[in-house]
Amino acid sequence: MDFDQRLILVTGAGSGIGRATALALAKANARLLLLGRHVPALESLFDDIIANGAPEPSILPLDLDGASAADYTQIAQAVEQQFGSLYALVHNAAELGERVPFEHYLEATWQRVMRVNFEAATHLTRALLPLLKASDHSHLVFTSSSVGETPRAYWGAYSVSKYALEGFAKLLAEEFEKTTQIDVTIINPGATRTRMRQLAYPAEDPLDSPEPEQVAQRYLRRLNPELGRQGAQRIHADGSVTAIS
Ligand SMILES: NC(=O)c1ccc[n+]([C@@H]2O[C@H](COP(=O)([O-])OP(=O)(O)OC[C@H]3O[C@@H](n4cnc5c(N)ncnc54)[C@H](OP(=O)(O)O)[C@@H]3O)[C@@H](O)[C@H]2O)c1
Repeated sequence: MDFDQRLILVTGAGSGIGRATALALAKANARLLLLGRHVPALESLFDDIIANGAPEPSILPLDLDGASAADYTQIAQAVEQQFGSLYALVHNAAELGERVPFEHYLEATWQRVMRVNFEAATHLTRALLPLLKASDHSHLVFTSSSVGETPRAYWGAYSVSKYALEGFAKLLAEEFEKTTQIDVTIINPGATRTRMRQLAYPAEDPLDSPEPEQVAQRYLRRLNPELGRQGAQRIHADGSVTAIS
């Protein structure tokens, strides 16, 4: 697979699935924009990408909780000036929040999880849409969860934010189908051996879940430029693919 230096922005690139996906894409000759809130983690990924002889990435430090409209505009302007267009935007960053009944859920945590997992994705999509449209063919990817497809008790704002994210993705899929060249994807990575998985299931043996490097291959297959326009799709936890109608 050769991404021929196509430009791809990954949020939450500093760890877990985001890191593995960004590194795998870079190894396949994509040019990465690494968005995250911890610069040392992004710098470590930058070094790994360079060590692999891949195109030099750019680091975009941003805390999605509390990012302002000006922050998103600044990112879009910088990408526009340096590159002119964007091949793919991969929404991956998320916070787990609490796993308690709604009535015990801390309001401040609820608001933060909604901002990071859902609202930030709408702001970033809005800011970068003109650059996605400037590509001959481009991708908008939303990382969801089983509890985003069907809300689950005690998963609180995480479940609701992913459900909202899926609604947003479906809205755009319908709007974009005939009016743009943007393919929308909802991907549920399924159980993956990351920090978030450990937080959600502390009693589980981490070795029972696949590594993020395995899950990253699903993102790569979907974004493979050789496939061309595929239409809106959902990639399920078991890796199967269905159309979003
Ligand atoms: N692991 C699973 O089993 C599983 C299952 C279903 C869905 N998912 C989804 O997969 C995606 C990746 O999760 P993961 O499992 O790889 O967990 P992870 O390692 O905790 O990754 C989450 C990423 O989001 C970033 N993030 C969180 N809050 C942020 C903020 N305010 N601003 C900027 N970045 C922020 C984190 O940055 P920091 O490192 O700075 O915290 C981290 O890089 C998420 O959307 C998650 O919902 C995971």
